[in-house]
Amino acid sequence: MKRELVAQLERLVPRFDEMLAQAAAPEELEAARVAFLGRKGELAALMARMGELAVDDRPEVGRVANAVKAKLTELWQQAQQRMLPRPEGAYFDAGEPGWVPDVGALHPTTLIQQEICAVLQRLGFETVSGPEVETDFHNFEALNLPPGHPARDMQDTLYITERILLRTHTSPMQVRTMLARRPPLAIIAPGKVYRRDSDLTHTPMFHQIEGLLVDRHVTMAQLRGVLTALVQAIFGPSTRVRFRPSFFPFTEPSAEVDMSCVLCTGRGVLESGELCRVCKGTGWVEILGCGMVDPAVFAQVGIDAAVWSGFAFGLGVERIAMLKYGIGDLRLFFENDTRFVRQFA
Ligand code: DAH
Repeated sequence: MKRELVAQLERLVPRFDEMLAQAAAPEELEAARVAFLGRKGELAALMARMGELAVDDRPEVGRVANAVKAKLTELWQQAQQRMLPRPEGAYFDAGEPGWVPDVGALHPTTLIQQEICAVLQRLGFETVSGPEVETDFHNFEALNLPPGHPARDMQDTLYITERILLRTHTSPMQVRTMLARRPPLAIIAPGKVYRRDSDLTHTPMFHQIEGLLVDRHVTMAQLRGVLTALVQAIFGPSTRVRFRPSFFPFTEPSAEVDMSCVLCTGRGVLESGELCRVCKGTGWVEILGCGMVDPAVFAQVGIDAAVWSGFAFGLGVERIAMLKYGIGDLRLFFENDTRFVRQFA
């Protein structure tokens, strides 16, 4: 009984296959399906006889029945595929538009960062990197910003714990470098920085590049020379640079650096007579902060300020990219739109 049922089940496969092979029209395929796989078809009839089997034999025959059903279904699907209308001749349509992969490109932030670092590397600065999760000591205290210092308010800090934070600037890399090696040294540190700030012209994350040079008898004139060379390499040799007195806790004296406006070339008005919107008519745009390393910072890292002096600078990468590429909206940098990034390839 059991063997007979198994044999009959197994014979369904070649029989069905043959019937499908002979089918010349979709209707004949459907008839074959109903005859074998239908509710009142051959498979169903054989399965109905399982009840006549000894209870112990049922699982084995059940497995055979399931395998046969799967095979019949597969054969029927293949037959249906064969029956689909096909164009005459080749199946390959050479005229069909191809699939165009969405190719990316380097982001303008990356491009300008690489360009700035390349210029400074040619001037002898070495690129270093360090953690985005920083200690209060490296980000503030060693930079002459003790707890309670009012200048801490200038930077809306994202804290992780009371003493651990997301770095608000790349300046802690000055501290890390001076703790790790002795002067003379000249480094640049590009990277991400974080502030609790979000509006049209501020994002919670942006990029900076820090520069630090420590040697004997370093002068502000050398700082000016390096920054002028940098700005002119990026924006062209006729770009002018000016230093404005400013304040940073970690440099003394400190300056903010402006360059002649890229849009109106420093005239403050456009050809049309319109007031220049990039520099708001002043002819100058601010691009970075800098100064001579404050002796209080040297003291924090154990460098003798009577022997060594240095300069430092910090610039915002997105800001430089906006000026260089004429990007009017900071939000474009963070939208991950490949149409945006491809324009700079
Ligand atoms: N760390 C400052 C900021 O984030 C920028 C800066 C100013 C860096 C003066 C410097 C510097 O190294 O000397 O706003």
